[in-house]
Amino acid sequence: MSQLPKVLIARAIFPEVLDQLSAHFELETNQTDEVWGPDVLAAKLQDKAGLFAMGTDRVDAALLAACPKLRICANMTVGYNNFDLAAMTAAKVLGTNAPDVLTETTADFGFALLLATARRVTESEHFLRAGLWTQWRYDMFAGADVHGSTLGILGMGRIGQGIAKRAALGFGMKVLYHNRSRLDPATEAQCRAQWVAKEELLRSSDHLMLVLPYSKQTHHAIGAPELALMKPSATLINLARGGIVDDAALAEALAAKRIAAAGLDVFEGEPTVHPALLALSNVVLTPHIASASLPTRRAMAQLAVDNLVGYLVHGKPVTPLNPD
Ligand code: DGY
Repeated sequence: MSQLPKVLIARAIFPEVLDQLSAHFELETNQTDEVWGPDVLAAKLQDKAGLFAMGTDRVDAALLAACPKLRICANMTVGYNNFDLAAMTAAKVLGTNAPDVLTETTADFGFALLLATARRVTESEHFLRAGLWTQWRYDMFAGADVHGSTLGILGMGRIGQGIAKRAALGFGMKVLYHNRSRLDPATEAQCRAQWVAKEELLRSSDHLMLVLPYSKQTHHAIGAPELALMKPSATLINLARGGIVDDAALAEALAAKRIAAAGLDVFEGEPTVHPALLALSNVVLTPHIASASLPTRRAMAQLAVDNLVGYLVHGKPVTPLNPD
């Protein structure tokens, strides 16, 4: 019988991850697209010391109570709202995430979504594919400019800062941001970004980008009252987490043209998308792919591998969230 610690990989992952982990651990894997629910996850984790986790794997007090041997849950994502960190700390289970390696790729995608939304790229492509293009027209799919406009960034962590630099240096945008804590003056200057109160951010932005973490405090940070403060010509881009935006209120605001357009990579209750959003043409919808370049997804997975091996084999995780 193997003496290796047991690790569960609850979702499909790169084959090289399996190769690396199987050198150190006895693995159980789920190489299907099915997300295991809490009961299956708890049953599978009974005898495991580690979990290679995705944002779809919820780790809470109930799961921890059922898995006495569990020592580490290593997310391959930077966001960790799937972890109840307080419960993990109480159960002496380490959580790790995958910061930094996805910053630039995600910031790139912020611009992909912003440009597609402001310049109506997907809407016009659907029109063309449907055979509706008969001639050039002066106002056909005329959208908003990105260059030279004012970008508002809500949440100014690593990804927000990457977006600010692209905006100021690449697109000549004026960059405003709001964050609980202000950046130090040197970082502000590097990002060419100016801190403003949330209400001013909402009122002044031509384009508003959301890159803040999800928590009870940020739940519905953008709802009907906030949307009402935005310019009718504004676009809203959500790269952060579903739940930060009240999707029903957003669909209403888009339908009533209280704001011009939205680009959304994340949704409340994803992969289900609010049907009212699906019915609108002034919204660009992508399936949570902001960090999905192959090199970056490999780097994210590698960090989860390094955390599992680092902690369970050498006693040293790389990016611990709740070290003791
Ligand atoms: C993350 O890492 O939190 C992203 O949302 C997944 O790409």
